[in-house]
Amino acid sequence: MRGNFGEHYKLSIFGESHGPGIGIVIDGIPAGTPIDEAEIARYMARRAPGRDPTATARAEADQVEILSGVLNGHACGTPVCGIIRNTNTRSSDYSALRFTMRPGHADYAGFIKYAGFNDPRGGGHFSGRLTAPLVFAGSIARSILKARGIRIGSHILSIGPVRDEAFDPVHLDPASLTALEFTSFPLLDAGVESDMRAHVAQARESLDSVGGMIECAATGVPAGIGSPFFGSVESVFASLAFSVPAVKAVEFGDGTHMADLHGSEANDALTYSGSTVTALTNHNGGVTGGITNGMPVLTRVTIKPTPSIARAQTTVDLSTASDTTLEIKGRHDPCIVPRAAVVIESILAITLLELMMDDMTARSEPIQMPSER
Ligand SMILES: Cc1cc2nc3c(=O)[nH]c(=O)nc-3n(C[C@H](O)[C@H](O)[C@H](O)COP(=O)(O)O)c2cc1C
Repeated sequence: MRGNFGEHYKLSIFGESHGPGIGIVIDGIPAGTPIDEAEIARYMARRAPGRDPTATARAEADQVEILSGVLNGHACGTPVCGIIRNTNTRSSDYSALRFTMRPGHADYAGFIKYAGFNDPRGGGHFSGRLTAPLVFAGSIARSILKARGIRIGSHILSIGPVRDEAFDPVHLDPASLTALEFTSFPLLDAGVESDMRAHVAQARESLDSVGGMIECAATGVPAGIGSPFFGSVESVFASLAFSVPAVKAVEFGDGTHMADLHGSEANDALTYSGSTVTALTNHNGGVTGGITNGMPVLTRVTIKPTPSIARAQTTVDLSTASDTTLEIKGRHDPCIVPRAAVVIESILAITLLELMMDDMTARSEPIQMPSER
């Protein structure tokens, strides 16, 4: 079991979906960092369940109670512990699932790994609910980055076959990211919203679910953040992204489409803009050699269709060692994508802060953020 991340911005998450609560301990927040609880609550609300027809009906306030490390709106420099109480559990929905494994969910793998001692209620520690503490940590990280001119935002690139426009990879306006910041169904082209919602509603009506993609970007990221190999922006981000339940693919820049290109098409030609080196295109998503190159950081994350569906599915009953049929009765998101957008933004913020802090400690005096060099 590994519930922790980071060498500088250190996170440790805990809790189960139907236990008393979930939470996180964050070590490494610089003393004096402003902690704006009202702003944190606005990010948390974007992920909170029960507020949109594309989400589960399980309504939770998802209010973070800060137990330590913050005084008078500023970080003390000591570990910050935030907890979120579970208030709307209905564990009876899961009594039938003790030994009947949900296809596509973590039930069978978790049962084997923990010899049946895992908490299966609401997915236990495997639940998407555990992404709420990540949003809390990401909200603090993005406020630190914001003070250094870095903006992060995302939108729903697709739900099933319905697609939004993509970000402009070269001239991405920070204001367009700010406009997306507190929207629960973030889109660049609002005209596709009704088709996306109709696609989710249709899936729900046919006792099914759908997946999609989130495109996430950061602007104002100075060149020079990250390292080759294991501390690359791509590897750290991907490690966090694949830690988010239901994420099945991660791309940077043109991503898998790179397989179809020639080098002359995939390379980003460099040029001077005054005294600054910039690129004419951004096929590499702002990262080359694992290190940011000054272009917008651009990533796409694929979210699978929600595994818990009401349609009858073939599975196994471990108590009788036989095949059976399962129709899931509980409350579930027919589409995870809208709620996951702020989670992906949060992990991009955590990635960039962790790597910027790594840069600061690797350098000899004077310690400066890359943007101040
Ligand atoms: C925000 C969020 C909400 C989720 N909601 C549900 C849900 O309502 N029902 C469900 O079966 N899975 C849900 N999931 C996905 C499961 O937790 C996930 O598919 C499962 O743990 C198996 O992990 P894997 O898909 O990464 O293999 C959600 C994930 C996230 C990020």
